[in-house]
Amino acid sequence: MDRLDGSANLMLVSDLDDTMVDHTDPDNLSLLRFNALWESTYRQDSILVFSTGRSPTLYKKLRKEKPILTPDITITSVGTEIAYGEELVPDEGWIQLLSKNWNRNEVLEETAKFPDLIPQADMDQGPHKVSFYIPKEKAQEVITPLYSSLTQRGLNVKIIYSSGLALDVLPKGAGKGQALAYLIEKFESIGKPPKNTIVCGDSGNDSEMFTVEGVYGVMVHNSREELLEWYEENARSNHKIIHATEECASGIIQAIGHFQLGPSISPRDTKPFFSNEDNRKPAQFMVNFYLLYESWRRAEVEKSEAIIHNLKSITHSTGVIVHPSGAENSIHQSIDALESCHGDKRGTSFRVWLDKVIVSAIGLDSWLLKFNKWEFNGTSSWCSATTVLLNSKVETASVFCIMHMHQTWLEEYGIGDRQNWTF
Ligand code: GLC
Ligand code: MG
Repeated sequence: MDRLDGSANLMLVSDLDDTMVDHTDPDNLSLLRFNALWESTYRQDSILVFSTGRSPTLYKKLRKEKPILTPDITITSVGTEIAYGEELVPDEGWIQLLSKNWNRNEVLEETAKFPDLIPQADMDQGPHKVSFYIPKEKAQEVITPLYSSLTQRGLNVKIIYSSGLALDVLPKGAGKGQALAYLIEKFESIGKPPKNTIVCGDSGNDSEMFTVEGVYGVMVHNSREELLEWYEENARSNHKIIHATEECASGIIQAIGHFQLGPSISPRDTKPFFSNEDNRKPAQFMVNFYLLYESWRRAEVEKSEAIIHNLKSITHSTGVIVHPSGAENSIHQSIDALESCHGDKRGTSFRVWLDKVIVSAIGLDSWLLKFNKWEFNGTSSWCSATTVLLNSKVETASVFCIMHMHQTWLEEYGIGDRQNWTF
């Protein structure tokens, strides 16, 4: 986490399935609202952590299916694996800690004595996680004797029941809560404790995150019965936890506002661009620029000369955009090309979002922005690494002026076509 000079302003720790990701919404609207908020205002000085029950393999699969951001830290397999950055560099210290007092084979021998436990697929198992399915009616009858038999065998484990169907056996020191406590301690040990931490979840395996000292918490509206019951029995008096009235990622945004942890209005809710007061920071400016681009192509803003004129006023007349193909255009030519693309994505699922927006000041009035720009056209998505040079000094009506843009395909994510490529 060398990216941050000091303490993170906010550490946001979120579960994925049914918390950050709403599987009932094919348009991913609440997730895209969160993404725009995070990239425009939090990415620079805060830490994003995903904490999921999924194994690393299934987590990577979800990243291909849904527009989730790249977190700084990824906790997978129900808090048994911690990894850093996009490359998922494992935390070796955590692995060592969990390996004490854990014998996977002995756990398997004991669990095999309970025929109601249906083993999950191999892909769902982990070095420190043994997982099963068991229906709710049978779960309570099994959990207590299973725990006794594992303990009698001298195994130091915990059993977690989630979503009314999944049962995980983990080392006692593992789990989403312990993994988070370990991370916070790690930040404290280097003198950079996050100023605020908020945890976000919807099901049983998330409950222990809410018990970590000092954290705020949100149970999204669609939370599972077992989490709400846990809250009623154990945490009712904790005013740092709310049950959101909004679902999934919208519930997370709601909680940021409720606890006043920072800005809580997504740029997706404050369109249109040119009447937007919130373009004072380079990252906000860029997020809003691409939201205007999306709205233009979806015909959610009217086709108007004024917008084209305004776009030209926030881009330098000699500025160049280098396309991923290597072709160059003047930025103003690209704006002209965009003019004729108005509404070409009307009524489609076309969306644009930015990930990993990193801003470096390269003088008193210039900034270099680097980010991944994603476009989704309804069936597939593609990504280009983009750098933008922004200047604030040039005489324009807006605060910033785009001087130069350069894009490169990130081939591992698929390549878009050149047709109608403008920004
Ligand atoms: C995820 C995992 C599964 C686990 C469940 C509950 O669905 O894929 O293995 O049992 O979360 O923690
Ligand atoms: Mg979940």
